[in-house]
Order: sequence, then C-alpha cells, then structure tokens
Amino acid sequence: MTMKDKLTLLEQRRTESEQGGGSARIKAQHDKGKLSARERLDVLLDEGSFVEFDRFVTHRSTDFGLDKLKTYGDGVVTGYGRIDGRLVYVFSQDFTVFGGSLSEAFAEKICKVMDLALRNGAPVIGLNDSGGARIQEGVVSLGGYADIFLRNTLASGVIPQISAILGPCAGGAVYSPAITDFTYMVRGTSYMFVTGPNVVKTVTHEDVTMEQLGGADTHAGTSGVAHFAHDSELASLQAIRDLFRFIPSNNLGDPPRGSGRDPRDRRDESLLEVVPDNANKPYDMHEVIKRVVDDGEFYEVHAAYAGNILCGFAHLGGYSVGIVANQPAVLAGVLDINASVKAARFVRFCDAFNIPLVTFEDVPGFLPGVTQEHNGIIRHGAKLLYAYCEATVPKLTIITRKAYGGAYDVMSSKHIRGDYNVAWPTAEIAVMGPKGAVEILFRREISESDDPTAATDGKVREYTDKFANPYVAASRGYVDDIIDPRDTRPRLIDALSTLERKRDRNPPKKHGNIPL
Ligand code: HXC
Repeated sequence: MTMKDKLTLLEQRRTESEQGGGSARIKAQHDKGKLSARERLDVLLDEGSFVEFDRFVTHRSTDFGLDKLKTYGDGVVTGYGRIDGRLVYVFSQDFTVFGGSLSEAFAEKICKVMDLALRNGAPVIGLNDSGGARIQEGVVSLGGYADIFLRNTLASGVIPQISAILGPCAGGAVYSPAITDFTYMVRGTSYMFVTGPNVVKTVTHEDVTMEQLGGADTHAGTSGVAHFAHDSELASLQAIRDLFRFIPSNNLGDPPRGSGRDPRDRRDESLLEVVPDNANKPYDMHEVIKRVVDDGEFYEVHAAYAGNILCGFAHLGGYSVGIVANQPAVLAGVLDINASVKAARFVRFCDAFNIPLVTFEDVPGFLPGVTQEHNGIIRHGAKLLYAYCEATVPKLTIITRKAYGGAYDVMSSKHIRGDYNVAWPTAEIAVMGPKGAVEILFRREISESDDPTAATDGKVREYTDKFANPYVAASRGYVDDIIDPRDTRPRLIDALSTLERKRDRNPPKKHGNIPL
C-alpha cells in the first residue's frame, strides 16, 4: 500500500467512526428531540476545538454474538476541547450504539480522559445518555463503573466535574453524576433513577411515570439531585458554557475575571427601598443581589430547590464570587434541612475552588417542627455551619435585616472567620425576634397585667430598641461597620480587593468528618 492508499483507508475509517450507530438511529435520536453525541460536543465546545481520543476502540466481548457487532468508539466519544479558549476534557455517551451502555472498553475511554483532566488540571464534562451497564458484559461493566466512581471521588475538589443528563441514566450509573459538582437535566428527554417505574410498581405498588419519578423538574425541584433543568439540550449545553465564566480550571487556579465594565464605585439608590419598614414583611433578596453585582447578572444554582436560600455565582468588580443569601420571600428565609444541605455543598465547592463567598443575611432562625427535628435538622444544619467554618476563601457578609439565633452564627459570622462583616441600619441581631423573646422573658408580668396587649407591645418596643438593631453587635466588633445600603457594592468590592492575597489554613489532617 502506498502512503496515499493508507491515508485513504484512514479517512474511510475516521468517517466510519463518526457514524455511531448509523443514520437511522441518529434520526430516531433527533425524533425524540435529542442531539447525537457528536452534535452535543459541537454545541458545548468552541468551534473546531474538539480533539478526539480512542475513536478506533472497540469492545472485546464475544458473548451473545457481540463479536460480530463492533462499532468504532464503542458508544462513547471522548477527548478534549475548549470553552472560551480554556481546556476541558469531555466524554459524550452515544445512545445509538448499544443504547450508550457501558462496556469495559467504554469505561476505559472515560477513565483515560478523567486521568488526563486530573493530571493537567482541567475540568471534566460528562454528557450522559445511556442504558447503564452493558448487560452482555456482566461484572466487567460493573467494574468499569467503579473505576469511574473512584476517579470522580479522587478528582473531587481538584478539578470541577460537570454532568449533563441528556437521556436515560439509571441504576448505579447515577452515582457518577451524583459525585460531580453540578448536574444539568433537560425536561422531557432525560431522567435519573436508581430503579425505574416498573420496579417501583412491583415493590411499592406506586404508579409513576419516568418524568415524575426522575425527570428534570423532579430532580431540580424535589430531590435536589439536579442543579439545573432546561427545556432543551441547546439551553443546557449553553448554560454549562456560561458556568465557566465563573469557575477556575482547578483548585490551584484563580477563577476567571468578569468584564469589569460595571463601575466599581456604583452606588444604588434603590437599595434604600428594598427592605420594608415592617420587619415581618417579605422582600425578594434577588433584588438586592442584582443591584449589587456586576451588570445585575446572577448565575443561580439550584434555583428551583429550597428557595428559602439562594446560591449562585456572580462577578463583583470583576471578581468571581459565590453568593449565598437567605430569601425572605420564601418561608421568611428560614434555614431548614434542604436549605442547609443546598448551601453547604455550594459553600464547599466555592471553598475548594478559590471562589470568595459573599453572604447576604436575613434569617429568622432554623425552622421549628417535628418533621424537621425527626428528619435531622440538627445534623443537616450542622453541615452548613461546618462548611462555613472550614472555608478559608475570603468570606464577606452583609446583614440586611434579621440575624437571629444559631443562624446568626452559621451565616458566615465574624466568629467563624468572616473576613468582612457589615450590617445595614435595618439589621436586627439577637437571640430571637422581639415577640418570641418578650413572651419568654415577661410571660408572668404580661399575664398579671391589666392590659396584656399593651404590656406586650411596650415590652416588644423596649426589646426592639435594645436588641433588634445592629449596634450591640457593632459595639463588640462582631460587625465591622454599619453601612449605608447604597454603598454595599463599592464596600464589598473594596473589601474583596484587600483579600486578594488572603492566607488562611486549617490544621493538617487526613480529612474532617462533616456530619453527613
Ligand atoms: C446492552 C442495551 C442496554 C444495556 C439498551 N440497550 N440498554 N444493550 N446493555 N444496558 C440496547 C437495546 O437492546 C437496543 O438495542 C438499544 O440499546 C436501544 O434500546 P431501546 O430499549 O430500544 O431504547 P428505548 O426504548 O429508548 O429504552 C431505553 C432504555 C432501555 C429505557 C434505557 O433500553 C432499558 O431499559 N435498558 C436497560 C436499562 C437497564 O436496566 N440497565 C442496567 C441498569 S443497572 P437494539 O439493537 O435493539 O437497537 C446498571 C448497573 C450499574 O446500570 C452499576 C454501577 C454500580
């Protein structure tokens, strides 16, 4: 064979390797509203940046006639590419080949890109669309999953790991996305469950559809397994690209800077109007965040889950920050189990990846109730406390209104290494709200009074004047200053600049024992 012939053969095989399970199966994929594995990579990555590995790998199975059914690539497209010029490693499962099921060779291909990502300090993005373990390969396939789980765990906190669920993801296969940092799902075409509707029906006699059991809205809103739900694959893949505007490539890198167009010294008059005069009236903390951050842009994570706390990324004076904020508009911003777990994981992500934390605080305390207590609010609430305590990234806190009880300590207080803690004049920092406090402290006095209502009102006023303000905390240095709300943005940006080279570390240890 001449070189020319050899090149022709190579071209033929490369073309063949790009056909996946063939045009009919790709059409079936399109008919379901899904893209092919390669089309997805085209959307996800900068144009022309994808470099493929292992396109000629095939499975090694001979059982059930598989020796006659070999497809180049074996059902997963792997390699690297760029997002806004930054290196990322990717794998994209191809449902058109054996239903995207995972064989030994398939797992090896994924492990190869994961190993390279870890070694080269670049994120891994997995596009999942698979029928799970390749049934014909048996335990070898299960072993392949375990090889991936191990790598997910070892890479956790070293490089960002992102999962998009773009089709089925069932059985033990769900545990790889579950270990990764952020999971994106698409309504109507993706689902995740440990056991599907048929098994559920047999075991618990419950009738449930795939979408109800493990669709995008179920996981983004009810279980919290997914951080994002979108209406289309295009929207989901674009959202992953957007995430990279805020996160670094690895735990030793700095997060990318924003455009810095929004003036650093911009004051916002309307911040004077956000907090209602009546302390029991709700307001939307999104309004505060949007008026403070660069260009009003807040990349919210877990937006449909535990709405009483808000988590997400933004830029502030160009610095990338992770924002955690109590949301008075939902359950009065109380901390409950789901909110604690949601925020704890987000705080740990930011801390692992050098993203400063900015906390907006308006919290009446932890949610009372038998259900919360019996389901472990103590254990789960402790996760958020632990996460904030161990975090060594710059921590900035603005108390806009309530900072009551244990929640005051938890929400990035000075006592747990808050670097810059300020309060608005509307802040109320105390063990509990005035009404509750008065009912405990003055119960007898009020019940013995001729006019209990007037007596209560008087005591509430007295308590409010004394404790429901930021001045007691400020007199102790527990807040660094009480600021004009309009100055929030310039003050935060300036504080961030002082913390650029912050050095802080925890005692050496193998790892802590966060109350899981
Ligand atoms: C081998 C598989 C497969 C699998 C699908 N296929 N799943 N081949 N191993 N796990 C093949 C089908 O035989 C079919 O081949 C093609 O992929 C497309 O599948 P369809 O069933 O036609 O597609 P659809 O109707 O869309 O249904 C998709 C599906 C279904 C819901 C995913 O295929 C299914 O239920 N698959 C099995 C799921 C499962 O139980 N997996 C094991 C889970 S346990 P042809 O040639 O006919 O087109 C697990 C353990 C992991 O994964 C453990 C980790 C610890």
